Amino acid sequence: MPADAPASDDTPPDAPAAEPVDRMDQIVNLAKRRGFVFPSAEIYGGFRSTYDYGPIGVLLLRNVKDAWWRSMVQLRDDVVGLDAAILSPPAVWEASGHLSNFTDPLVDCRHCGARHRSDDIPDPDVCPTCGSRGTFTEARQFNLMFKTHAGPVEEDAAVAYLRPETAQGIFVNFANVLQASRKKPPFGIAQIGKSFRNEITPGNFIFRTREFEQMEMEFFVPPDEAHRWFEYWCDERRRWYVDLGIDPAHLRLREHATDELSHYSAGTSDVEYLFPWGWGELEGVANRGCYDLTQHAEASGERLDYFDQATNTRYVPHVIEPAAGATRTMMAFLLDAYDEEEVRGETRTVLRLHHRLAPYKVAILPLSKKETLTPMAREVLGLLQPHFMCDYDETQAIGRRYRRQDELGTPFCVTVDFDSLDDRAVTVRERDSMDQVRVSVDELVDHLREQLA
Ligand code: GAP
Repeated sequence: MPADAPASDDTPPDAPAAEPVDRMDQIVNLAKRRGFVFPSAEIYGGFRSTYDYGPIGVLLLRNVKDAWWRSMVQLRDDVVGLDAAILSPPAVWEASGHLSNFTDPLVDCRHCGARHRSDDIPDPDVCPTCGSRGTFTEARQFNLMFKTHAGPVEEDAAVAYLRPETAQGIFVNFANVLQASRKKPPFGIAQIGKSFRNEITPGNFIFRTREFEQMEMEFFVPPDEAHRWFEYWCDERRRWYVDLGIDPAHLRLREHATDELSHYSAGTSDVEYLFPWGWGELEGVANRGCYDLTQHAEASGERLDYFDQATNTRYVPHVIEPAAGATRTMMAFLLDAYDEEEVRGETRTVLRLHHRLAPYKVAILPLSKKETLTPMAREVLGLLQPHFMCDYDETQAIGRRYRRQDELGTPFCVTVDFDSLDDRAVTVRERDSMDQVRVSVDELVDHLREQLA
């Protein structure tokens, strides 16, 4: 039975340096080296805190979004989905208040020219870039929306905006969805997709970027039920992260002070994660009241309310909104899953990702590259692929291949060895314990299904 290879065989050539490095550096390194996240347009020197998701990152991000969709849409009968356009006309953002209110206060340092968000500087008098004191200009409000033109002529009538949140696509479709889905409050509309904000200070890897993905749900309720549903969604959303493996000690709910509230919010609590630099927002749960539907009804002249036949009353539903960042959440899952341990005097890096999130569920590894093992290993791959996302790897020593899969967070490695040709059984190695069991090929799908459930 193949065991974890001797340590000398196991150390990746590009392993991080021996000196202590901080957790963010470890994650950024791993992300690049193993294909989770690459700096965008890197061959041209990169592009302003923009990132691309590589072969492993695209799987992890997709699994994060699928887990959200499963919990918010698939497992409920009171939430439906939507996929609205990213480009929208100014009228939407005029009515939503984003054209006048979606701003950050911007200051320039007269000494070094650096730009900062004035509400984001530890000492409002000192430039964090050059250390000069008293060199900031007066703060001016900077609108975060990306403006473009739809069509070939760059004229005012063609102005369009890239959405800074997915939520408005839901509000402007409220009447369509209500009519088509035959839902009645309390019910929700969920959406996952890209949003764009011209952030003054993007940073901390994929924590704050100008292009990112959101997972938002607008839950429409009778006005007198708003508070109850707000509390319900705060609890539900915090639990989602815990259920997917985040250490509860690294999570907290933080209520916004009145002066922090967004222009639309009557009350917000953030689900925060303990990032290496401190607590940071993963998700905001907001009570948006009837602000958005009222604004769009007034601006469009369309009726955006609900007639309750049971009580013979008409009302504008209030909205409770759990709004999470998919890319930011992926980073929190990576940070929380990252672990290093000593195995036979060597450091093993392992991503202890929840099975549902793991990019590959199973890796098929023929013990050696000898041609005699390849046909059976490929047969096992063909057997497993319809059921699980699989990797196949026959290069390098088996120990190195186990270590690579540990770094990808693959829960199970299936090794085909020379005995397999006789007994039609394979070795299944579990990621966290490194325990190995022999399983017959005929029972392999059921065995893995049980383990991955
Ligand atoms: N519709 C409400 C809304 O957009 P938000 O708190 O501004 O609320 C929701 O955004 C979530 O979107 C945040 O909690 C965060 O996870 C993510 N997010 C916001 N801006 C981001 C950025 N620049 N980069 C990455 N994620 C971001």
